[in-house]
Amino acid sequence: MATSKSKSKSRTEFRCGACGAGTPVWAGRCPGCDEWNTLVEETRTVSRVPAATRTPARPIGDVADRDVRPSPTGVRELDRVLSGGLVRGSVTLVGGEPGIGKSTLLLQAVAGAARGGARTLYITAEESAAQVRGRADRLGATPDDLWLASETDLGSIVGHLDDVEPTLVVIDSIQTVHDPTLSSAPGSVGQVRACAHRLVEEARARGVAVVLVGHVTKDGGLAGPRVLEHLVDTVLSFEGDRHHALRLLRAVKHRHGGTGELGVFEMTTSGLVGVDDPSALFLSDRRPGAAGSVVVPVLDGGRPLLVEVQALLADSPLPSPRRQTQGLDGGRLGMLLAVLEQRAGISVAGTDVWVTVAGGVKTVEPAVDLAVALAVTSAATGRGLPADLVVCGEIGLAGELRQVGHLDRRMAEASRLGFGTVLVPERAPAPPDGCEAIRATDLRGAIAAAGLLREPPVRLASPG
Ligand code: TYD
Ligand code: MG
Repeated sequence: MATSKSKSKSRTEFRCGACGAGTPVWAGRCPGCDEWNTLVEETRTVSRVPAATRTPARPIGDVADRDVRPSPTGVRELDRVLSGGLVRGSVTLVGGEPGIGKSTLLLQAVAGAARGGARTLYITAEESAAQVRGRADRLGATPDDLWLASETDLGSIVGHLDDVEPTLVVIDSIQTVHDPTLSSAPGSVGQVRACAHRLVEEARARGVAVVLVGHVTKDGGLAGPRVLEHLVDTVLSFEGDRHHALRLLRAVKHRHGGTGELGVFEMTTSGLVGVDDPSALFLSDRRPGAAGSVVVPVLDGGRPLLVEVQALLADSPLPSPRRQTQGLDGGRLGMLLAVLEQRAGISVAGTDVWVTVAGGVKTVEPAVDLAVALAVTSAATGRGLPADLVVCGEIGLAGELRQVGHLDRRMAEASRLGFGTVLVPERAPAPPDGCEAIRATDLRGAIAAAGLLREPPVRLASPG
């Protein structure tokens, strides 16, 4: 009679520290990403689970449904992005550049959850407990049921879970946690993945919500390119320009809700403060009617935001003048300048061109095309647009104005902030009450409608 027996054996393989690819033999160059000297040896124990201890497969109707009700953290913008809050037994990865405010956000979140009655544990694997205590004092984040431990060893972290029995734990950061029983170096892709894997298992087994903090590398990958994203239930990305106070939080992946929401914060001396009305914030320093300034409703996540696009032109001393953007796609600006010259007769040859989105917002939506083109035209002519005008539309290579998605929501946001006129493509939906739509079929028409040229709207090179 056959008996099932547990077998286990060790296997050595080499794993790339940059892309995470594995290979059975060492090579100087990673076969996955072609980087040199990135392969490190890893020993894995492969075990086969005996049939008797396997969880049997069951008809789907017999499988108990897990409780996936989110528990709010009390940090409103975070809860909004999480569709309500953190789910017990789930793992959330919060990625962002160093210094952007991840530790601040999550300390506020564990404190808020503790105030709401949860037992929370904050594991700091980067800073000392005293440093975190100092920050918590400044943030007013010292409720009774917030527990703190400074720990980098994976086994000890699991021990803290046994001792404290939290319902929510934050591990800051996953890159500094290590498992000494693994041969790979602390911080290597192998370590980070193995530690995260263990913490996912602990989250599932204990029904605790686990949040992992991950620093993004310079190319935007989390903890070595994206090695953790498939392991976790939710991936949040925390972004912003370190020189501005604005911070944006987005869900890149979310198993317990949608990914459409956008969280907006301002970093203040007393921590992150949710911004109730981002559009009003972005427009607060605007000088209505100034030449080169155009307001456009962009859509970020599912949230319409009004932002100001600004253009500045200056005679260039350079043989090939500068075209620089901030918060916008530089290549797209080049295309729009060509369309302006060819289709509307507005040339900026010999001129340096700067176009920015004020306030540190980034957008790559084609819906900002018309705003960029009109900002450049306004700067070139020295005429400002009407102060209560908002524009929105994509521009094609023929100079035609093209429809963009969700214009109804964009126009509603403009109307809410008191803008009375929207300049939109011909087939745009009806504007909300109290708002007038000016429709244009092409860039020339839009330039005339914005009051940037006198009749005739444009004089192209005379036909000889
Ligand atoms: P931090 O949360 O440590 O960033 P991360 O964990 O992403 O590396 O915070 C980064 C910056 O935020 C730090 O330079 C100081 C600033 N800060 C404030 O402006 N106000 C505050 O209340 C706090 C706690 C930090
Ligand atoms: Mg930190």
